[in-house]
Amino acid sequence: MKVIITGGTGLVGRYLSKMFDDKDVVIASRNNCDITDFSSVKYLFYRTKPDMVFHLAAFTDVDKSEENPALALKTNVSGTNNIAIMADKLKSYVVYVSTDFVFNGEKTSPYSENDTPNPLSIYGKTKLEGERLVSGFCKKYCIVRTSRVFGKNGRNFASILPLKLKSKIKITITTDLVNSPTYARDLSKALFEIGRERFQGVLNFCNSGWCNWYEFGLYICQYYNLDPSLLTPISIRNFHDSTAPRPAFSALNTSLFSKLFFEPRSWQIALQEFLKYEIS
Ligand SMILES: NC(=O)c1ccc[n+]([C@@H]2O[C@H](COP(=O)([O-])OP(=O)(O)OC[C@H]3O[C@@H](n4cnc5c(N)ncnc54)[C@H](OP(=O)(O)O)[C@@H]3O)[C@@H](O)[C@H]2O)c1
Repeated sequence: MKVIITGGTGLVGRYLSKMFDDKDVVIASRNNCDITDFSSVKYLFYRTKPDMVFHLAAFTDVDKSEENPALALKTNVSGTNNIAIMADKLKSYVVYVSTDFVFNGEKTSPYSENDTPNPLSIYGKTKLEGERLVSGFCKKYCIVRTSRVFGKNGRNFASILPLKLKSKIKITITTDLVNSPTYARDLSKALFEIGRERFQGVLNFCNSGWCNWYEFGLYICQYYNLDPSLLTPISIRNFHDSTAPRPAFSALNTSLFSKLFFEPRSWQIALQEFLKYEIS
């Protein structure tokens, strides 16, 4: 069996690639396959002839996507278009990782797979367009929506926050953006199982429970026995560091995933494990 992981050098990709034998997996990165360049994608696919493709590569900076929508569009839409075309040509099964940011956040209970997406941000819009391309082109696919992923060497806020707090750096942090934190290790296990079963359709995966960013930060302070006053809570209305509109509440309902695969553990237990074993 041959597997391609696009974005294999990213936060999730690094965990996922470890789940496969080296001989089975091709870790695609910008160096060996720029997904926005069709000839580069075509070359990698014809050379590998993958049975399965995990399409993780994306322009993931939500705020920079507002500043540079053309780049977000090029990577997340044209890039995904290239992957979907080649996967369909070679009859590969595709797992496309998408986001809770496809929702507008107006619900007050967790979003299920059947809720209608209505993204607020450029990033969310381009990821939703990616979902449509994958479901439109590929005969065998699964779209996996996840949220607020944290893990080792991640460049996103959820991964960097524990390092900053551990170094006692003061942080201003929002209280009114709620979703479900997800450990990249758990997400990778979920993606691996989905791939093994060749599940087709749309699935949510995140750790169970939800919190706002302030609560996430407080949990980290508590774990390290740090003074919680390191965190200054603020409403998103007064927070000028982020420019993209984000859903106020975008927790994901994982009952379908739990029924088919395994019960995701709570975000607190997953975060504890991450802090204990992966943050030195
Ligand atoms: N992290 C989250 O909180 C989160 C939440 C929901 C959904 N997701 C989705 O999960 C997936 C994985 O996210 P992540 O956190 O692992 O992202 P990440 O750490 O930002 O990694 C993104 C990867 O995509 C690669 N990439 C970007 N542009 C590319 C291009 N033109 N050609 C080839 N590769 C390119 C990057 O390579 P370089 O290192 O060379 O730039 C990097 O390896 C993404 O599809 C994201 O939308 C993430």
